[in-house]
Amino acid sequence: MSHDSSGIEQTSHASRAAGRYASVVPIEYRLAVMDDAEAIRGIYNREVVGSISTFDLVPRSLEDQQVWIDEHSGAHPAIVAVDAGSVAGFGSLTPYRSRPAYRTTVENSIYVDEEHQGRGIGRGLLEELIRLAGLHGFHAVMARIVGSNETSIGLHRSCGFELVGVEREVGRKFARWLDVALMQRMIDAPR
Ligand SMILES: CC(C)(COP(=O)(O)OP(=O)(O)OC[C@H]1O[C@@H](n2cnc3c(N)ncnc32)[C@H](O)[C@@H]1OP(=O)(O)O)[C@@H](O)C(=O)NCCC(=O)NCCS
Repeated sequence: MSHDSSGIEQTSHASRAAGRYASVVPIEYRLAVMDDAEAIRGIYNREVVGSISTFDLVPRSLEDQQVWIDEHSGAHPAIVAVDAGSVAGFGSLTPYRSRPAYRTTVENSIYVDEEHQGRGIGRGLLEELIRLAGLHGFHAVMARIVGSNETSIGLHRSCGFELVGVEREVGRKFARWLDVALMQRMIDAPR
C-alpha cells in the first residue's frame, strides 16, 4: 500500500476479490473533486429513487451535489473509488451532530455503483474513511443503516463496528416503516 501527497490510499483490493474474479483491476481511492459531482450524484440518485438505503426522497441536482462536495472538502472529507478511470463508488465523513461537544464524532456514508458491488470496493472505501477519521483526529465513527440492509451491516461489522442500538420505525419510505441500526467504531480500539 502507498499514499499520494494527500495521504489518500493508493491500493489494490485485488487479494480480496481474487477468489471471485479472474481479472482484477486495481482500485484507486482518492479525495473527491468537483469534477466527480455528476458521477457521485448518478450513484446516489439511483439509491434515492430505487431503494431504502438512503432516507432522502428527492434526487440531488448537480448544484446540490457540488455544494455537498464543497462541504466535504476539509476535515469531513468525501472520497471516491476509481476503477479504470470511472467513479465506482464514494464515501464521506459528516459531523454526527451539530452541538459542539459532538465534534470528535463523525458519521460515515458509503455508496457503490450497482455494477461494482460485491468486489470489495465498499470495504476499501470504509477502511479508507476509518483511516482518514484517525488522521483527522476524530474519536468515534457512527453509521446509521436501515435495519434490513444486511450487506451494509455485515460490511461495517467486518470493519470493527458494533451494533449499539436500533431505532424502531423512525423512517418511512415506499409506504413502509423503517428501522435504523446504529453502529459505532472507536478509532483507537484494536480491531
Ligand atoms: C453496502 C455497500 C456499500 C457494500 O459495498 P460492496 O462493495 O458491495 O461490498 P464489499 O464487496 O466491499 O463487501 C464487503 C463486506 O460486506 C459484507 N457483505 C457483503 N455482502 C453481504 C451480505 N449480503 N450479507 C452480509 N454481509 C455482506 C461482507 O463482510 C463483505 O466482506 P467479504 O466479501 O470479505 O465477506 C454496497 O452494496 C452499496 O453501495 N449498496 C447500496 C447503497 C447502500 O446500501 N449503502 C450503504 C448505506 S448505509
